[in-house]
Amino acid sequence: MKKLNLLYQGKAKKVYQSDDENLCIVDYSDAATAFNGVKKGTINNKGAINNQLSNYFMRELEKDGIPTHFVEELSDRETLVKKLKIIPLEVIVRNIVAGSLSKRIGIEEGFELKNPIIEFCYKEDSLNDPMLNISHITTLEIATKEELDLISEYSLKINEFLQKELSEKGILLVDFKLEFGKDSSNKIYLADEISPDTCRFWDAKTHKKLDKDRFRRDLGEVEDAYIEVKSRIMN
Ligand code: ADP
Ligand code: TMP
Ligand code: ASP
Repeated sequence: MKKLNLLYQGKAKKVYQSDDENLCIVDYSDAATAFNGVKKGTINNKGAINNQLSNYFMRELEKDGIPTHFVEELSDRETLVKKLKIIPLEVIVRNIVAGSLSKRIGIEEGFELKNPIIEFCYKEDSLNDPMLNISHITTLEIATKEELDLISEYSLKINEFLQKELSEKGILLVDFKLEFGKDSSNKIYLADEISPDTCRFWDAKTHKKLDKDRFRRDLGEVEDAYIEVKSRIMN
């Protein structure tokens, strides 16, 4: 499969056209950003770890009945995926209060939610990804009610699947972000990535953070956390 023109240069990944018009190649880099690109750095080997971990999860989710963009891992850092029109929503699922939810509602990080909370944010860096409700999304025609229902159903199913899988590896799934896209016949697929960049993972016993919060909050041992998560999940 040939890499043709660059379609999109993101903060952490590049997306290239492939020689099949319906497929593109995602190239994962070690670049790390936080707070919408305000904080910048590098996490050694992150690109390869995120690529391989995300592909691992997507393969498993596909077996569990979730349509995903994954087609084939081409190299350590490159994956062939379905070329989708990304729905400009960041879908966040939370099991434990942390991050922006903790700040917004004044509940301490670590508070266990009795049911998962699902949030939708408008994926637009220049606006700082503002939160939207169902009424905004349907009225502004970002997605239809039916599409949003399906996205929510998939997101909660993904949460259940990941929580179970991770708990067997001694990891708590605190929260995570998903993106979805549509193909030319408007079928919805899980897109983008599932990795320590897009999830909060805590060690189940010690609650040690094993994700990008180590970079966001300057906690040190950033690379080690990514290696630890990959080795617990994929070995
Ligand atoms: P950002 O856009 O936030 O800087 P990345 O650096 O991760 O993020 O860039 C990857 C981009 O590719 C994201 O904008 C994401 O929405 C997009 N993307 C992910 N999967 C697909 C896909 N299957 N088809 C088209 N675009 C995709
Ligand atoms: P938040 O608590 O900062 O809103 O983050 C919730 C989850 O979403 C967390 O697992 C990190 C992930 N996330 C992203 O993947 N991309 C983003 O741009 C942000 C802000 C969060
Ligand atoms: N993804 C966002 C950024 O790159 C924010 C984050 O992950 O904290 O700036």
